[in-house]
Amino acid sequence: MTSPLKVAVTGAAGQIGYSLLFRLASGALLGDRPIELRLLEITPALKSLEGVVMELDDCAFPTLAGVEIGDDPEAVFEGVNLALLVGARPRGPGMERSDLLEANGAIFTAQGKALNKVAADDVRIGVTGNPANTNALIAMTNAPDIPQERFSALTRLDHNRAISQLAAKTGAPVTDITHMTIWGNHSATQYPDLFHAEVGGRNAAEVVGDQAWIENDFIPTVAKRGAAIIEARGSSSAASAASATIDAARDWLLGSAEGDWVSMAVVSDGSYGVPEGLISSFPVTTSGGDWSIVQGLEIDDFSRSRIDASTAELAEERAAVQELGLI
Ligand code: NAI
Repeated sequence: MTSPLKVAVTGAAGQIGYSLLFRLASGALLGDRPIELRLLEITPALKSLEGVVMELDDCAFPTLAGVEIGDDPEAVFEGVNLALLVGARPRGPGMERSDLLEANGAIFTAQGKALNKVAADDVRIGVTGNPANTNALIAMTNAPDIPQERFSALTRLDHNRAISQLAAKTGAPVTDITHMTIWGNHSATQYPDLFHAEVGGRNAAEVVGDQAWIENDFIPTVAKRGAAIIEARGSSSAASAASATIDAARDWLLGSAEGDWVSMAVVSDGSYGVPEGLISSFPVTTSGGDWSIVQGLEIDDFSRSRIDASTAELAEERAAVQELGLI
């Protein structure tokens, strides 16, 4: 039998964790291959995490080979093959943007260092906790021995939201929507791109045939979906974020669908004019645990200005964390 994949999840007692852990344990990531969970939390949340582990036990999942919990990243990350960094410090009342970056900077600096020291040689690291792109940049910079392409930040939820909105507009099933791309930052400046997406093999922008809808409806609906969910639900999207975290990790490890691509925020090599070294979302194909940015797409002026605006925000975030001495 294949050995279990060791999967770390941080912020495991949080909202996303409560959905993510059960799906990971039940085989949503790797099918029949067992996994071992390594769950990291801050000390005050360990008791609540113990309760979640009791529930995991009570599911008697055949594919769950073991669970360990703790508050020390170096102990929890020992030998992990996949680290899903979900836990982050939310913005509290009166907290400035720089306070938020600083608080999260401390978390992702420590976790980057710990991964660098103790993770398995083949580790892949996916960052969900916000600000996801910059948190991934901080972790990556603090893990100099781990190849940079092993880090990514989650824009798959935005990608899935864009697919769902386009399917609803065109009446096509989600399975007919391909080649969707989210460019840039996982933030309100992100650019969900319909000019390369397809509906049943036809160009999505042409199928929609309504530039005003794309600009005034589709893009803001996708980019501000998180806020709309908070407004409706009274708390932030968690089950859909967990689902997207699994989609992204599964495609990374097992490969994206033949003839299609996915959105993933990865370190830029300068493709499409995105400044080198930023963790920015691109169209990527994945295979055997590696990704590559889809090359050669034509970018018109509208898309150019949207991509530039989002990557400018990423560059500002990078400058802010550089100023704080976090990278
Ligand atoms: P939550 O507040 O319910 O849970 C966060 C958990 O992280 C808490 O249990 C907290 O104790 C833990 N935590 C804080 N610092 C930690 C540390 N240093 N080490 C380990 N654990 C730590 O939040 P929720 O709803 O689960 O969301 C988690 C993060 O995911 C947030 O930053 C949220 O903004 C982000 N998010 C990202 C999305 C994306 O598409 N990239 C979508 C939705 C949420």
